[in-house]
Amino acid sequence: MSNTSYGLMEVFMLWILCILPLIHSLTPKSPIQCNQTICTLENTYGTWNDRKTCYALNVTYPTTEQQLRLAVSYVVQNNLKAKIVTKFSHTIPALSCPQQNTNNNHAFFISTEKYDSGIEIDAENLAVTVDSGVRLRELIDEVEKNGFSLVAAPYWEGVTIGGVISTGAHGSSWWGKGGAFHEQVLEITVVVPASKSEGYAKILKLDSHHPLFNAAKVSLGVLGAISKVKLSIEHRFKRSITFNFTDDNDIENVYMDHANKYEFADITWYPSKYTAVYRYDFRAPLNASGDGVFDFIGFQANSIFIAKVVRGAEKLLEITGFSKVKCSTASLSLAFRKLTANGLKNNGLFSTGYPVIGYQGRMQTSGSCLYSSTIFKSCAWDPRIKGLFFYESTAIFPASKFGDFIKDVKKLRDINPQNFCGIDNYNGIMIRYIKASEAYLGPSEDSIVIDFNYYRANDQFAPRLNQDVWEELEQMAFFKYGAKPHWAKNRNLAFLNVQQKYPKFNAFIDAKKQMDPENVFSGDWSDEILYGKELVKFDGCALEGMCICSEDRHCSPQKGYLCTHGLVYKEARVCRLLSTSVNTDSL
Ligand SMILES: Cc1cc2nc3c(=O)[nH]c(=O)nc-3n(C[C@H](O)[C@H](O)[C@H](O)COP(=O)(O)OP(=O)(O)OC[C@H]3O[C@@H](n4cnc5c(N)ncnc54)[C@H](O)[C@@H]3O)c2cc1C
Ligand SMILES: *[C@@H]1O[C@H](CO)[C@@H](O)[C@H](O)[C@H]1NC(C)=O
Ligand SMILES: *[C@@H]1O[C@H](CO)[C@@H](O)[C@H](O)[C@H]1NC(C)=O
Ligand SMILES: *[C@@H]1O[C@H](CO)[C@@H](O)[C@H](O)[C@H]1NC(C)=O
Ligand SMILES: *[C@@H]1O[C@H](CO)[C@@H](O)[C@H](O)[C@H]1NC(C)=O
Repeated sequence: MSNTSYGLMEVFMLWILCILPLIHSLTPKSPIQCNQTICTLENTYGTWNDRKTCYALNVTYPTTEQQLRLAVSYVVQNNLKAKIVTKFSHTIPALSCPQQNTNNNHAFFISTEKYDSGIEIDAENLAVTVDSGVRLRELIDEVEKNGFSLVAAPYWEGVTIGGVISTGAHGSSWWGKGGAFHEQVLEITVVVPASKSEGYAKILKLDSHHPLFNAAKVSLGVLGAISKVKLSIEHRFKRSITFNFTDDNDIENVYMDHANKYEFADITWYPSKYTAVYRYDFRAPLNASGDGVFDFIGFQANSIFIAKVVRGAEKLLEITGFSKVKCSTASLSLAFRKLTANGLKNNGLFSTGYPVIGYQGRMQTSGSCLYSSTIFKSCAWDPRIKGLFFYESTAIFPASKFGDFIKDVKKLRDINPQNFCGIDNYNGIMIRYIKASEAYLGPSEDSIVIDFNYYRANDQFAPRLNQDVWEELEQMAFFKYGAKPHWAKNRNLAFLNVQQKYPKFNAFIDAKKQMDPENVFSGDWSDEILYGKELVKFDGCALEGMCICSEDRHCSPQKGYLCTHGLVYKEARVCRLLSTSVNTDSL
């Protein structure tokens, strides 16, 4: 080693030593920030659907059920509004925002961040009772340590038990009670407002025979403060996973058989690549050899540098409109996923071949970016690093209608496959399964859930490359095929007329009147969901899905994006780049 490079090395080491104490490792920051006068709540992306700010006067951190009851009691006694907030705040729409009365803010956040210690396993009855602030990973690890498994859970572990059940979050399965987490719920304890003589708050214990149980199973946080949740568990088991990267010819014919054949089936579809990835995923005996882990690639810690570069490149491609380059990055990303088996590992580092066999607790749910131990890595969407910024549309289809939807999407794709590279750069169209639910706000029939992510501009009025395609896909799903929006995701337009999509919606509203008659736990966004609201139209409103365009001004006529009809679903109204005399100065 030469003297000069040794010198450089020293300088570098010195630099590292100097900055290490200054920078905290980028584990997620608290979603609530308070100063002397007000508290602000953000979601994990740092931006709500509508980009508004979400405030409350103060926050409290109960640690026990009794303290939670006292917090609700304080709120009721003082005529305040309240929302339950979690450590993570991973929901995309502003479901946790109380009413934003700016002149006279009288809302209160009750955080479950420190109400997270209780996990009681009842081995005999195959059940576990948890405090609502317990993190999913913590629960999984504790249950597995004692020889049991949770059979259904979301793929992402950065969630609390209260948040998961309140939004109907799910994994994927058509077997047993299906892929939705709330289907495993046996009992819910919830703190609701009460009369003065009852101390302003009372604890209700709802088991499956209680008339309010099916309202409380998926409650959007509007019925009260969930204190404890009792869930069913099974004896610990293993799984065997194989990904088959193949052509997409048969999706519409095989999607039902696939779920019937494999307990934890899913399909990831990359339309621009004519590729489908079938997940062959089923139980393996406990003595099957393998201690694999599914560390899903999208939830691994990214180098902050790479996340920034990717975002920079994506922005540039958006502005210059180079679909072709977007398609090469989509090809690269698909090749990388194939190479890394999507993050399946059977020797701790990578996959040495299919199938990968491992314990349920390590195969269902992941999120290693949450625990990044170096200062250079984080979750790719962490707003502090200005990394990825995207929309996430999630539509829940009645199973029987899904095949026709696939055929329509194929028609749209075949018009110009390159148009679809924007979603294939993320995770394509992810197809998962959930079963019919008794929950009033759960699907009333066996269903297919699709997710697709796509570029969101930093400026809400900036039109995006191929945005007409995503808008057509969205409107096709939610309006032509009547899909329901996932409560924790989506842009505002997806929730139009959602009340009509649930046969028991009125029963839920009745339960709300009983449990929270003074609307203590209501908020602006949850009210829009519950009672419906016309989307207010303004210039550029369709660009972020705040409305469906009916005039050019709802798009961006100054940048050449005009309001026009869909290509396959003609009734769709989308913003498409039609005028070539674009004013590029403002780009
Ligand atoms: C990267 C990523 C991956 C995801 N993957 C999946 C997935 O695979 N499947 C899926 O279905 N979803 C997925 N989601 C969505 C996620 O599951 C939901 O957003 C989940 O609700 C978030 O939980 P949370 O603990 O952060 O709740 P929050 O977002 O903080 O709260 C959600 C709602 O629940 C209410 N609430 C929370 N706790 C209580 C309580 N104790 N009492 C009353 N109300 C309460 C809140 O008031 C709010 O209305 C993903 C989200 C992200 C960001
Ligand atoms: C507190 O934060 C709010 C919102 O960010 C801001 O408007 C206000 O000026 C801050 N007040 C003080 C005293 O810092
Ligand atoms: C917020 O609550 C804490 C205790 O819960 C209290 O000490 C503080 O004064 C409150 N702040 C405001 C602005 O009300
Ligand atoms: C992958 O899927 C294709 C098409 O459905 C099928 O022909 C092939 O046998 C599958 N491969 C494996 C390993 O199962
Ligand atoms: C696993 O156990 C079963 C019986 O419990 C036995 O039949 C089988 O051979 C065992 N398999 C392995 C791989 O050890």
